[in-house]
Amino acid sequence: MNDQASQLRHLATRKRGRKGIRIIAVSSGKGGVGKTNICANLAVALTQMNKKTVIVDADMGLANIDVLLRLHPKFNLEHLINGEKSIKEIIIEGPAGIKIVPSASGNQSLTELDSEQRSKFIQGFAEFEDNVDFLLIDTAAGISKNVTDFIVAAGEVIVVATPEPTSFTDAYALIKTMEHISKKVKFSLLVNMAESVEQAQQIEEKFILVTERFLTVKVEKLGFILKDPAVTNAVRKQVSFVLNNTKCKASTCIKVLANKLCNYCSSNNKTLADFAGQIMEITQE
Ligand SMILES: Nc1ncnc2c1ncn2[C@@H]1O[C@H](COP(=O)(O)OP(=O)(O)OP(=O)(O)O)[C@@H](O)[C@H]1O
Ligand SMILES: [Mg+2]
Repeated sequence: MNDQASQLRHLATRKRGRKGIRIIAVSSGKGGVGKTNICANLAVALTQMNKKTVIVDADMGLANIDVLLRLHPKFNLEHLINGEKSIKEIIIEGPAGIKIVPSASGNQSLTELDSEQRSKFIQGFAEFEDNVDFLLIDTAAGISKNVTDFIVAAGEVIVVATPEPTSFTDAYALIKTMEHISKKVKFSLLVNMAESVEQAQQIEEKFILVTERFLTVKVEKLGFILKDPAVTNAVRKQVSFVLNNTKCKASTCIKVLANKLCNYCSSNNKTLADFAGQIMEITQE
C-alpha cells in the first residue's frame, strides 16, 4: 500500500505540466441503448478531427466493441493487469486509426485486484499518456461497482437514454445513485434513437426538469442522435456508420456531438496516471 502511494506520487510528479486528457465515461441505466455504437463512432469522428482517441472497453461482462468493429484482439486488460503484456501490446487499432483497450474477458473485476495488479494497471495507463487527447470509457449498463468506479475516476459521464420510458427512469436512477457516491462528477444527457428532433428535445426538457426538481446535481444537455437504419445496417456489416455512411442522420448527429465535445472546455482534464490512480484508490475503499 505504501509502495503504491509513493508510486502514485512519483507518477503525478512526472506528469505535472502535461496538457491533460479528456476522460469521459459513456454509461446508461438500461442496457442496449447504444453506448458501444456511440463510443465507437464518436471515437472515429474525434479522430477525424485530429483528436487522438482511445476507447477503454470497460464492460467486463460481455466485451463487444471488438465484435461491433470486427476486430480480433489477442490480448486484453487482464494481460496488462497480470503483467504479461504492456499497454502498447494490448491496444488494438480500429477504423480511422482509433485505439481500443480490449476488456478483460469476464470474471475478473477491477475491484478484486491485488496490490501488484493495481500497480501494473496504473503504470500501464501512465505510460500511454502522450498518445491520447480523448479517453472514452464504454461501461456496462446499470449501477454495479465496476461502473460507478469508472464514472468517479473519469469525473465526467455521458448518460445515454432513449425515448423508452424505462430508459428514462433508469438514467435518472443512475444519476441519483452517482449523486450519493460523488459530488464531483460532471453529468450530461445524450438522447439516442430519437424519432425526431422535437421528440429528443422534449425528452431533454423533461429530464432536466425532473433532475432539477429532485436532485442536487446539474445535468447538461449534450444533444441527441436520431434513430437511423444506417446504424443497424452498419452493425450487421461490423463497420462504423460514420465511415460507412458519412451523410446519414446518425453520422451527422455524431459529428455535431464530436464538435460540441471539442468546443466546450472541461475543467476535468486529467492525466492518465490520475485516472488509473483514482480507480485504484476507489477500489481499495
Ligand atoms: N441511433 C440509432 N439508430 C438505430 N439503431 C440504433 C441506434 N443506436 C443504437 N442502435 C441499435 O441498438 C442496438 C444496441 O446498441 P449498443 O450495443 O451500442 O448498445 P449498448 O448500450 O452498448 O448495449 P449494452 O448495454 O448491452 O452494452 C444496436 O444493435 C444498434 O443497432
Ligand atoms: Mg455495449
